[in-house]
Amino acid sequence: MRLGSLTLSSNLFLSPLAGYTNLPFRLVLREIGGVGLCTTDLVNARSLLGKNPKALKLIETNATDSPLAVQLFGSVPEEMRDAAAYLESIGVASVDINMGCPVKKVCKVGGGSAMMTELDKTAALVRGMVNAVKIPVTAKMRLGWDADNLTAPDLARTLEDVGVQAIFVHGRTREQGFGGTVNLAGIRAVVAAVKAIPVIGNGDIITPQAAKKMFDATGCAGVSIGRGAFYNPWIFQHTRHYLKTASLSPSDGERAGVRGELPPEPSFAERVRVMCRHLDLMVEVFGEELGCRMFRKVAPWYAKRFGPAHVFNKRVVQVATRAEFHTVLDDYTHWRQQFLDDRGELLPRFQLPPMVASFMQAEVPAAARREAIPVPQGPVEVW
Ligand SMILES: Cc1cc2nc3c(=O)[nH]c(=O)nc-3n(C[C@H](O)[C@H](O)[C@H](O)COP(=O)(O)O)c2cc1C
Repeated sequence: MRLGSLTLSSNLFLSPLAGYTNLPFRLVLREIGGVGLCTTDLVNARSLLGKNPKALKLIETNATDSPLAVQLFGSVPEEMRDAAAYLESIGVASVDINMGCPVKKVCKVGGGSAMMTELDKTAALVRGMVNAVKIPVTAKMRLGWDADNLTAPDLARTLEDVGVQAIFVHGRTREQGFGGTVNLAGIRAVVAAVKAIPVIGNGDIITPQAAKKMFDATGCAGVSIGRGAFYNPWIFQHTRHYLKTASLSPSDGERAGVRGELPPEPSFAERVRVMCRHLDLMVEVFGEELGCRMFRKVAPWYAKRFGPAHVFNKRVVQVATRAEFHTVLDDYTHWRQQFLDDRGELLPRFQLPPMVASFMQAEVPAAARREAIPVPQGPVEVW
């Protein structure tokens, strides 16, 4: 698909997850494959211009981490413009503007969701950015402040008029936080509101089937996946395969209703291989001490599909070195054997069914419904 002047190999996107979508995680996803464009955590435009070391670390990248979008937030037009120009000058492929962040500290200064309420001001700020760069400028938003104020369609149209090349929309309101159901009709209204630019749907995509449902129900041009990528780094590759082998829509002629093929779930050994690769990259990028500390909140996401894993989770949140991590993993692998059959597979009663997206709960039997996707804990738990 195309994003302005940029051609992407896939219409599957990695959503920004502050504290998580750093270089190591993006590289892990790119090595597995299937993702068209990755976006960084949000970056404060002013801090970036001031060459604040933390901001520079957020945009750290390398040749294999491509194409890369950097997400900016801020409310001072000149700062947003200059930050966009700076990002273009260092080779970033596109710039995304955060309009959907419900964190107080961001809204307070007029960035994030507050932007959605001041259309003219926002349009002027975005126009300044678009005019300053040749790379695509995109915007990420929620549906609006609350159910009575679904401002995203108007905002999307306004932004298209000032030159934004794509809209990312999380199908929830700011008031919803991460609760309730992703509103597919709300995303569809954004698709209907724009004239030509792609709208990328987002929210709760945790399986290839959920991605397909979002495409079919909203007419979006792409989907963006956040927590689902953490829960299952194979989701992009699997979704691509599923979409390629499924009919694209109910009106797809002879192929209508053809179900996609789901690649087999990665084995325990493959999950462990990727988890260890992720840790190695964390150590490479952040150093052993910080990399291991940061990995304490990452490893339990891999463990969600290991089967019984409380023993692993309890210990992994204390590791300080790579060697300690491997001791914990070896001990766990040994302990886990009691839950395996002769072929080394988890005994059926320890296997977990896949999670079900909020907007697909009604399609599964009540007994198969599971908790919502967890919101990662940490400094950004208020997202
Ligand atoms: C821990 C966390 C951090 C997030 N950080 C950002 C961010 O920096 N910028 C942004 O636009 N959205 C951010 N989001 C929102 C996600 O990009 C995404 O819109 C939301 O999680 C819904 O998609 P998902 O269900 O696929 O995770 C964050 C969400 C979480 C859970």
